[in-house]
Amino acid sequence: MTSPPAVRPYHPGDHDDLHEICVRTARDGGDSRPFHTDPGVFPATFATPYAELEPELAFVLDDGRGRAVGYILGTADTPAFVDAFRARWLPRVAKRYPAPLGPAATPDEEIAALLHRPERMVLPELAPYPAHLHIDLLPAWQGRGFGRALMRTFLRALHTGGTAAVHLCMSTANTPARAFYDRVGFHEIQVPDPGPVTYLGRATRESGGPPAATVS
Ligand SMILES: CC(C)(COP(=O)(O)OP(=O)(O)OC[C@H]1O[C@@H](n2cnc3c(N)ncnc32)[C@H](O)[C@@H]1OP(=O)(O)O)[C@@H](O)C(=O)NCCC(=O)NCCS
Repeated sequence: MTSPPAVRPYHPGDHDDLHEICVRTARDGGDSRPFHTDPGVFPATFATPYAELEPELAFVLDDGRGRAVGYILGTADTPAFVDAFRARWLPRVAKRYPAPLGPAATPDEEIAALLHRPERMVLPELAPYPAHLHIDLLPAWQGRGFGRALMRTFLRALHTGGTAAVHLCMSTANTPARAFYDRVGFHEIQVPDPGPVTYLGRATRESGGPPAATVS
């Protein structure tokens, strides 16, 4: 049966769709497959652990036929997520995606190095924004208002759960995503030496703006 596309909670049957969406959007918003030998390292690092560890904050865009064609995933508490990632997630995938023995020598190893260092997610500048998120839609579903709809659902869930602010980390090269985040109320968070990424944040309440803790 077909119904209109709609945002709904993630369920375990969405696992393979989640994997595909992540792989097809992981390289600065585009397809990672031409550049990676085993692009499954992306969902293992940036998608599946969120659905497994914090399913109550995992939402998908359903195409109306039961297929997930976009998602928003995240955590309400980044330091607690990092602990759970190391203790409960990493042991499940470490053999398939081993840590590089020295400096990363291939694109796959660069991502595996991130997988094995979840503590990189905790920075003092991000403390006023305890939640963080990842959002991706398959190309055919982009630019149609569904990203905004996913974001609204996610922010509401955080706000209802008592979390005041959220951050995200994006590749600075992904300028279309930056335009989207600017449009849906995110602002830049300055961190020392960010490398090739940009940190953005916003309050979870509807009107956006900086979290109360940072208003002077
Ligand atoms: C980034 C992404 C999640 C945005 O979702 P989307 O469904 O395409 O965005 P929407 O259609 O909901 O757009 C919401 C608003 O942002 C604006 N916007 C979105 N993309 C934009 C762009 N490239 N340039 C300018 N504005 C843009 C829209 O005009 C819209 O504004 P309005 O509601 O005020 O009219 C989606 O395009 C995507 O998955 N891209 C590939 C993966 C990716 O880059 N993910 C983010 C990784 S950090």
